[in-house]
Amino acid sequence: MAKTDLTYEHGKNLYINLTNECPCSCDFCLRDGGGSIYADNLWYGESEPTKEEFLSDLETRDLLKYEEIVFCGFGEPACRWDDMMWLCDKIKEKGSFLIRINTNGLSDLINERSTAAELDGRVDSISISLNAATPEDYDALCHSSFGLEALPAIIKFTANCVLVVPRVYMTVISTMDEEEIEACRAICKKIGAELVIREYIDKEDDMNGFIKEAGMDVLTAINTRKSIRNFTGEAIGEAELSTILRSGFNAPSARNCRPWDFIVVKNSETMAKIAEACPNMGMINRGADCCVVLCGDLNLSDRDVFLVTDCSAAAENMLLTAHALGLGGVWCHAAHDEQRAFFTELFDLPETVKSVMVLVLGHPAEKPEIPERFDEKHVHHEKYN
Ligand SMILES: Cc1cc2nc3c(=O)[nH]c(=O)nc-3n(C[C@H](O)[C@H](O)[C@H](O)COP(=O)(O)O)c2cc1C
Ligand code: SF4
Repeated sequence: MAKTDLTYEHGKNLYINLTNECPCSCDFCLRDGGGSIYADNLWYGESEPTKEEFLSDLETRDLLKYEEIVFCGFGEPACRWDDMMWLCDKIKEKGSFLIRINTNGLSDLINERSTAAELDGRVDSISISLNAATPEDYDALCHSSFGLEALPAIIKFTANCVLVVPRVYMTVISTMDEEEIEACRAICKKIGAELVIREYIDKEDDMNGFIKEAGMDVLTAINTRKSIRNFTGEAIGEAELSTILRSGFNAPSARNCRPWDFIVVKNSETMAKIAEACPNMGMINRGADCCVVLCGDLNLSDRDVFLVTDCSAAAENMLLTAHALGLGGVWCHAAHDEQRAFFTELFDLPETVKSVMVLVLGHPAEKPEIPERFDEKHVHHEKYN
């Protein structure tokens, strides 16, 4: 098994995996799945690192790089409350870094005292799992060792946090029914906390990391993808776009040169200019959200044919990913001399960077038929005839 991560990066944040202990056993807890989206291994086994070891780990990181430092791992950080407070102080001594705690809110019961006041000046935001609107529902879902006492204690802890922590929010998962979500909203309103509805992360999908939202296997994606040329005008989310781009970077490339430069264009004026200059990209004006101009750099792979083949592999990966995410797109040729000259001027491309194709992406406003294209007569075995 991979070495246990004391801290791990995800998105723009650094996470501290303080402990594997927890007094709950939530039905949806990712710990039972054994893996994590974000880190190789968050399990400590027999013994957990000391607070000094966490500090040493943090000292190997460039903390300036992160938007937030978050206590969140495979366990409840309040189980090591004193160590967490000590680490908050050490981090704040190094600079005014933003600190967040993700917690089940059971700190007072775990530590047998009222703890929220200790967060004053140490923690900038706290995310507390609410999960249910009644003690019975909470118990049925989270199976806390504190039984029916758990939810009232969580709410009291949260109300106390509101007095000392700048941002306090409680979370519920999106699969709850509307009525329950409304009841949770009322609880938050009463104590002055925000309510955040977060996406449910399926344990099995969690192992697939960033493709977790796709919900489509690769064969289905390949065999049901069609070019989409009419879009709804709805925006593609940043996370979806970055998933699409990541798939591009993971395409095969000749000699592994990966000569790619992907230019994302969301500006409507620039998109209109592209549509006007390139008649084959007229669908840009039919509700597309963005274009990704795939370019290849001759400094990275010195043959134009490889720029074209490598960008093609990336383009197909990206189109399949868009489709798997419920989005749509079309591949538009952009390697003719006049098109290259146009994109060079539009983006101020260096001499060696050449446009190859443009992917026009958006939310589909059409649902093309899926034809059967398998054609036995073009499959040859051993010899052509
Ligand atoms: C190299 C290449 C260039 C293409 N250029 C364009 C284009 O400029 N404009 C366009 O509307 N579609 C373009 N397409 C999309 C094809 O027309 C489309 O893939 C083909 O008709 C098959 O339909 P399907 O993608 O729905 O399976 C291109 C596809 C490829 C592979
Ligand atoms: S409170 Fe968090 S760590 Fe504990 S069981 Fe529930 S989801 Fe897992």
